[in-house]
Amino acid sequence: MRVLLAIAAIQDYFREEQPNDRAGLLDNLRCVLSELEDTEFHDPKIRSFFEETIRYVEADCVPEALQRLGWGGEKLSELVQQIPTMLCKETLSYYKWLTRTFDELGEIVELGSWMGSSTACLAEGLSQNPGREQKAIHVYDSFIWRDWMKTYTEDPELQAANIREGESFLKYFWGYTEPFRDLIDVHQSALKTGTEQFALPAIEWGGGQIGILVMDFAHDRASNEAMWRVFSPSFRSGSTIVVFNQFGNIPAGQVRQFCREKALELVPLHKPCSSAKAFLYQKAIE
Ligand SMILES: C[S@@+](CC[C@H](N)C(=O)[O-])C[C@H]1O[C@@H](n2cnc3c(N)ncnc32)[C@H](O)[C@@H]1O
Repeated sequence: MRVLLAIAAIQDYFREEQPNDRAGLLDNLRCVLSELEDTEFHDPKIRSFFEETIRYVEADCVPEALQRLGWGGEKLSELVQQIPTMLCKETLSYYKWLTRTFDELGEIVELGSWMGSSTACLAEGLSQNPGREQKAIHVYDSFIWRDWMKTYTEDPELQAANIREGESFLKYFWGYTEPFRDLIDVHQSALKTGTEQFALPAIEWGGGQIGILVMDFAHDRASNEAMWRVFSPSFRSGSTIVVFNQFGNIPAGQVRQFCREKALELVPLHKPCSSAKAFLYQKAIE
């Protein structure tokens, strides 16, 4: 029971990452960890989850400049709000705000669009950004249906479609994002991580420098490392924004570990009240 309460406290903390909540959470987690040592319940995965969370929270020096507000008043069109989504409203508003206000150079890349809800928010923001001449979002997804996706299919059209495990859902993505077609450059391809096999071309980046990258493929370490290998050579020090959409989710311990280990390159920048967290990339000084 104590373990479950601690997991709920971790989830709460990572929604907001308020500095005042750190000390209490750390006390709580250290207590749970020592209780785990005293019992016969020795699951190494649970232990290492708590240990890594403690390490992250200990090192989580929230910079004064971390922005938590600004996107609350962002209005999403009815059209965008009707697209099936795995994201919460705060994240969707943040995505629209990000591309509407972004004033640095570089391409916009989205990894993991599913039915295009996040894509449409990014596109809607981009279409309203007066300072941006280059209007395109490079969207990458395998568009291969997995049965776990059913959890998010309340939309009657999608339910009626009855897409099967392994089938392509690209045409549904295009159906939902049709009004933004001119702003979207889609790549049906797969980030090869060794864990899941796809009969699709491997994701490569031959484009120019990247201004914004939104990572929403998966929360495992291999996916985040593969993303970094392919895209980070095109990041611009001091201006590229990297958003980890799944950062604060309970199963995303490996994403937090990845970001903690790259703390010299990933400086916290935006924290919507959701699982997402955005970082400013800076080149590590060797
Ligand atoms: C969490 S969902 C994205 C949710 C979406 N951003 C939204 O607005 O609802 C993850 C997506 O990433 C895709 N994906 C996961 N792993 C992938 C991989 N290795 N290569 C290509 N696509 C992948 C899945 O097909 C799925 O559409």
